[in-house]
Amino acid sequence: MTDTAGRNAVEHDHEQSTFPPPADFAAAANVQAEEYERAREDRLGFWAEKARTLLDWDTPFTQTLDWTNPPFARWFADGRLNVAHNCLDRHVAAGNGERVALHFEGEPGDTRTFTYAQLTDEVKKAANMLASLGVRKGDRVAIYLPMIPEAAISMLACARLGAAHSVVFGGFSSDALKSRIMDAEARVVITADGGFRRGKPSSLKPAVDEAVAGGDTPVEHVVVVERTGQEVDWTEGRDKKWSELLAAAPAEHEAEAFEAENPLFILYTSGTTGKPKGILHTSGGYLTQATYSMFASFDLKPETDVFWCTADVGWVTGHSYVVYGPLSAGATQVMYEGTPDTPDKGRWWSVIEKYGVTTLYCAPTAIRTCMKWGEDIPAQYDLSSLRLLGSVGEPINPEAWLWYHRVIGGGRCPIVDTWWQTETGAHMIAPMPGVVATKPGSSQRAIPGVEVKVVDDEGADIAGTDPGLLVITEPWPAMLRGVYGDPQRFKDTYWSRFENTYFAGDGARYDEDGDIWFLGRVDDVMNVSGHRLSTAEIESSLVAHDAVAEAAVVGAADETSGQAVIAFVILRQGVEAREGISEELRAHVGADIGPIAKPKRVHVVDELPKTRSGKIMRRLLKDVAENRTVGDASTLADSSVMDVISQQVESTS
Ligand code: WT7
Repeated sequence: MTDTAGRNAVEHDHEQSTFPPPADFAAAANVQAEEYERAREDRLGFWAEKARTLLDWDTPFTQTLDWTNPPFARWFADGRLNVAHNCLDRHVAAGNGERVALHFEGEPGDTRTFTYAQLTDEVKKAANMLASLGVRKGDRVAIYLPMIPEAAISMLACARLGAAHSVVFGGFSSDALKSRIMDAEARVVITADGGFRRGKPSSLKPAVDEAVAGGDTPVEHVVVVERTGQEVDWTEGRDKKWSELLAAAPAEHEAEAFEAENPLFILYTSGTTGKPKGILHTSGGYLTQATYSMFASFDLKPETDVFWCTADVGWVTGHSYVVYGPLSAGATQVMYEGTPDTPDKGRWWSVIEKYGVTTLYCAPTAIRTCMKWGEDIPAQYDLSSLRLLGSVGEPINPEAWLWYHRVIGGGRCPIVDTWWQTETGAHMIAPMPGVVATKPGSSQRAIPGVEVKVVDDEGADIAGTDPGLLVITEPWPAMLRGVYGDPQRFKDTYWSRFENTYFAGDGARYDEDGDIWFLGRVDDVMNVSGHRLSTAEIESSLVAHDAVAEAAVVGAADETSGQAVIAFVILRQGVEAREGISEELRAHVGADIGPIAKPKRVHVVDELPKTRSGKIMRRLLKDVAENRTVGDASTLADSSVMDVISQQVESTS
């Protein structure tokens, strides 16, 4: 937790300043103070009511939660519903077919608009297309697409058929894609020739070709969306054009209802070991909480709001707050393909002005980047349509919060700092914007219906403001149902540290008012620009390189990205510390896992700090990486090692 020590000092200064919701906002807010009490008095009754009122059930459920076999929860298990019907058809049936579901803005400036009626038609055709390729309930489909409408359409088409999707972020390498295809046993991959990034087409199809080339994957069909018009290799029989299949697909498709616990998606996320975990989410509970949080945390008014979540569909934020949450809630939203600085650094603000965005949901790293670019850039745009701002992915430092509030929100928009995880499926800790006076830097308190605590190492309640561990003490509807294919890992990772209590892996503390402040991860998971990376995964990539004997990776505090990946490597005997080796190793990790995993620096050292039992003490390397006096090294097998490492790092950086 050393990386956040500096920030905490600043946080204390700001703790006194709170921002009560503007009176008109509070009066009209979807969630009022009583909702917290109502949920506390009868948590299961509260969620049952939300599930019934927010979703359309084909067969109503009679049992809310089955927790007889913890940690394997079943929510609304005897109910049946279709997730895609809830995101699409029911809005059309309710007379809202002409409402815009999606304003798509491509990076080159091309646009497409889909009303709910049009999006429903597209998804029906796409479902027929997938069915014609043999996709059935229970199958898995891998999706490797840029941020284009076809990503949402593909996900919803899977949901409509009761098949689970596994979306793989387009920035991941072919190896990463392949391991996810193998683990999920996906029979179909949906991809594109490429997408636009920083003004240029960036290819995707070659990575799919490479991933399935060996013929050792279960993939039978590769469906290719034409986005950039790039030349692509074509394997007859296996590769199919999205446009041709869709044109041939029947227009009508009746959505069949599936049981509430039918798998909806698998999403891979980094853990403390080298192998990513396939986080499994199911239908009824997930959709209930994703939908509820749209109305609660974001105070969504579907008739008048324009919602924009900037996340990529490759991450859980894109699943819950680009696809399932907004569409199930009947929102009008914006989807943007590219980067915030293309063609210039005003792109985000021009999108807000153009579509009249009322609700912006983005990550602190993006806010800090915009701060660096200067406030005269957003000042050139009309941002007066905004009424609520969200933050997600990492703790938001008070400076960035205050800047976001003043410069982007014009001082009038509540900021909702939402803490949650791939595993939790939807928001867990966030101030209800019409009720809670917000505090720069704190996520504050659990949303209605969710129970969390900060505990010490033994699991005992923390009295006062000492740092501790964040746990979730009661099951929640959108909770992960497991790690795909690995029930033991599910138990070990989340449920073994404390009995019947979910261990989140985050450090946290209460302030004097009982509000929660996050202190960063307590395990070997890094958070770079709001994305989770595992030290072990990058270390195993480094040692897979011919030149490397041993590697240790740490996340060091970074002004813009929150944390940066810093690697320390020992070269193999006989390998010279040749010029350019660090660059070569950085590129190797980038190609192996994906550009986001590329270390910011690779230091070649002679030794790594190890305890007598051989465990690498990353804490000490982090001190070096963050330019601090090295902490207590007394448990090292050889305590002089740190001096040598510090010298070597200094002489090479
Ligand atoms: C980890 C989960 C949730 C979607 C994006 C990331 C950190 C996330 C916050 C926040 C402090 C946060 C935690 C968490 N995190 N949001 N508002 N304040 N920390 O999902 O990749 O599953 O990462 O991100 O450390 O455990 P993820």
